[in-house]
Order: sequence, then C-alpha cells, then structure tokens
Amino acid sequence: MIRPVFVLNGPNLNMLGTREPETYGRLTLADVEALCASTAESLGLGLSFRQTNHEGVLVDWIHEAREASSGIVLNPGAYGHTSIALHDAIRAVAPLRVVEVHLSNIHAREEFRHRTTIGPVVLGSICGFGAQGYIMALHALAAPAAEAVAKRQGQTTT
Ligand code: DQA
Repeated sequence: MIRPVFVLNGPNLNMLGTREPETYGRLTLADVEALCASTAESLGLGLSFRQTNHEGVLVDWIHEAREASSGIVLNPGAYGHTSIALHDAIRAVAPLRVVEVHLSNIHAREEFRHRTTIGPVVLGSICGFGAQGYIMALHALAAPAAEAVAKRQGQTTT
C-alpha cells in the first residue's frame, strides 16, 4: 500500500480564518485540509492532515512519518524559527523528504521570522503563497522532478 503524505501543522494554525486575516487570509484550517484532500486525490496520494500546538507532538509525528508516510508537508508555525528539536527530528528521519510551508512571506515580515531552523534540512521551502503553498508542496512531493532532486541529494522517494 502506498503510504500517505503527512501534512503537519504547528501552533496557532488551528486559529486560521480569524487569526490576523490580513496576514494569513480567511481560509480556515478545515478549508486548507479540504484543498489538500482534493489535491492529494488528484495526484493519487494518500493524506494524513494534522495540527498541534505542542512542539513534542510535532517531533513524535515526524518520527512516526519515517515508517508511515511517503513524505511530509510541514508548516511548523513559530517553532520553525526556534526549534532545534524539529531540525534534529527531520535529520533523524532522513532520507524522508520534508517540504517546509509558510502561508505568509516570512522574509517580508519581522526579522525574527526570516530564518528557520529547519530550512537547512528540508528538501525545499515555500512561503508567501497562502494555502496554495500546501498544494505546491504536495505537487513537489508527487512530481517526477522531486525524484531527480531526491536522487541528487541521495534521498529515496518511497
Ligand atoms: C507561519 C509563519 C510563522 O512566522 C508564524 O509564527 C506562524 C505561521 C505561516 O504559515 O506563515 O504561526 O508559519
């Protein structure tokens, strides 16, 4: 059986829709999940879509993904700027591919958001495209081009 892609969402993303809509838009997390579900279906991917406000839960899910998923789309929220534990967890599950997503353009915001701790250990990062970024990340994990990149980086795609 083909393993699903894990789409993991970090802290405060359960508040989408009402949280700073000028920055994050008006789609709720349920709307984002529905978009991911229809995209995954059209790409022939299974999907496990989750959200937590707890850093350790994200670490546990990344570990689980090593055996149970075919790749991760990760919006780490603010933990992406602070968490060495997430950096280490992604390294620990290599060669599993992880695509980092942020709804907002983190480089156009406060300086403390410009850097992410996971940037150096993910396959690639997408930011500034709102919910479309999740769709782009799912395409990246499904695309033949991802295989080429993965091979170049010594990673596998299954
Ligand atoms: C975010 C960007 C982070 O800086 C912020 O802390 C979030 C959301 C985004 O999706 O744009 O919670 O990850």
